Amino acid sequence: MSWIAIGVTADIPLRGARCVTTPQGPIAVFRTVENRFFAIEDRCPHKGGPLSQGIVHGAQVTCPLHNWVISLETGMALGADEGSVRTFALKVEGEKLLISSEALARRTA
Ligand code: FES
Repeated sequence: MSWIAIGVTADIPLRGARCVTTPQGPIAVFRTVENRFFAIEDRCPHKGGPLSQGIVHGAQVTCPLHNWVISLETGMALGADEGSVRTFALKVEGEKLLISSEALARRTA
């Protein structure tokens, strides 16, 4: 598996996110309060809201538009809502954030 550097951990504040533009569209990279990092499609499964501008709590993000809650681990909408976003393999090497190039190339839906 090959990896593409997309920035450094210091670029993303705790409980924050950064939007990365890729050939697959915008990807939101999140950092949780536990210092875990996740990459998911920056497009809410409800009506396309920018999840990177949502509120991070635990390993979830609440969409800024209508408050759907999306799991950062699975990309699934939680609670009574249904839908999902793509998730992307991400790893941290030292200070570097790397995203899987294969994940970027694969279309699943
Ligand atoms: S667009 Fe995200 S909850 Fe409606």
